[in-house]
Amino acid sequence: MATKRGVSLNSPALTYDKGELCIEGVSVKKIAAQHATPFFVYGQKTLLSNYQEFFGEAQMAGLPRPLVCFALKANPNKELLKLLAAEGSGADIVSGGELRRALESGIPAERIVFSGVGKTNDEIALALNCGTNGVYSFNVESIEELEHISVVAAKLGKVARICFRLNPMVKAKTHKYISTGNKTHKFGLLQKDILKAAKDKKHWKHCKLVGLSVHIGSQLLDLKATGSAIVTMGELARKLPHELEFLDVGGGLGVAYHPDEAKKLPAISTYMALVAKSLEASYFGHFKVKPPVRVVFEPGRRIIAKAGFFVMSVLRHKVSEDQRFLIVDGGMNDFMRPSLYDAFHDLVPVKAPAGKKLPTHVVGPICESSDCFAHGRPMPAMKSGDLLVLSDAGAYGFSMGSNYNLRGKPTELLVTGEQDIRVVNKAQSYEELR
Ligand code: LLP
Repeated sequence: MATKRGVSLNSPALTYDKGELCIEGVSVKKIAAQHATPFFVYGQKTLLSNYQEFFGEAQMAGLPRPLVCFALKANPNKELLKLLAAEGSGADIVSGGELRRALESGIPAERIVFSGVGKTNDEIALALNCGTNGVYSFNVESIEELEHISVVAAKLGKVARICFRLNPMVKAKTHKYISTGNKTHKFGLLQKDILKAAKDKKHWKHCKLVGLSVHIGSQLLDLKATGSAIVTMGELARKLPHELEFLDVGGGLGVAYHPDEAKKLPAISTYMALVAKSLEASYFGHFKVKPPVRVVFEPGRRIIAKAGFFVMSVLRHKVSEDQRFLIVDGGMNDFMRPSLYDAFHDLVPVKAPAGKKLPTHVVGPICESSDCFAHGRPMPAMKSGDLLVLSDAGAYGFSMGSNYNLRGKPTELLVTGEQDIRVVNKAQSYEELR
């Protein structure tokens, strides 16, 4: 955690330089002088080093031919995806829109896995028709889905590459909205249903079973359930009468949004060691000659959360008896994690705070009380026009934004250095709203 002038910053990309906040060394004030708030700004260095660390640690842990499929739902910005594509990243997608975005950004079909419980026939056809052999894998979440894929593949004269997403019946410790690995959740198939389908010849005329996957939830800081889910998947893989090409361990590795979470945060190397150990114990260790199975990952948040920031201006300051409010120009429509999950995000004043901090509600302009970035957070005195940065906003920020209250989606910027502040997505104009 960087500390300067008594201000603790939970994000490695942030520093204060002469009392002014910088993102990867670029002054936020300077950026805001060129672009109207609110806006998202991403740091290229942080994004690339996160990806490289993730991929590098997978290799270091001895995992065979790792394929890192970045989860587009975390952030589908085309310019950011192009950077990841150039690093060799694949994509984890959940819609036809995300498929098209991944392809347009230069991620080849053979590095794309298609998850999601409700793939439509049109989306299936799109995924079968791209690249030479369609997407790398349809991560199948129900038997009916498998049947639909078969029908569409037969019509198109193709063979669909299939992976079963296992529901390992574990309880991941995270917010209940983003926990996905239990029987009560709509995701994945139970072991016994996978075994039955794998043995049923009728499925394997137009589909080829090439992998298994598991994804038990997001923002995971405790990896106990992750380890046991991977072991269950490895054991299941040995029981299947098909030669697999890959095992996909999903995404979900968390980040420290709150300084207290920094202590619990698993290092990427720790996570990779767990993946390697779990796969060795349940799968690879059971063969004299290791099968040529590669390991696929679907990280989103860990790659992009800490590379993104949401910059807002203070519009008003208001005191209602003992309640203090800072009203900012960004709203829950731009960044909804605090409203939806009660999520903590650091709020960092661009001018290094001096003086006493007072409990303050930091709220947006949207007409409902859930439009609140922080309840009673100790904040320094700020006035109209002052800049405030919401930290760790790169994942599930812009991608979950909406036009609620008929507000246009904000600008996205990419910084690579003082001289290079680039617009990577223009703010939506009134005319572009629908
Ligand atoms: N793979 C699958 C099948 C997923 O469902 C997800 C996330 C990921 C990979 C990527 O997970 P990550 O590495 O980013 O944790 N909007 C929520 C998060 C929803 C996650 C949904 N699935 C939030 O803002 O916390």
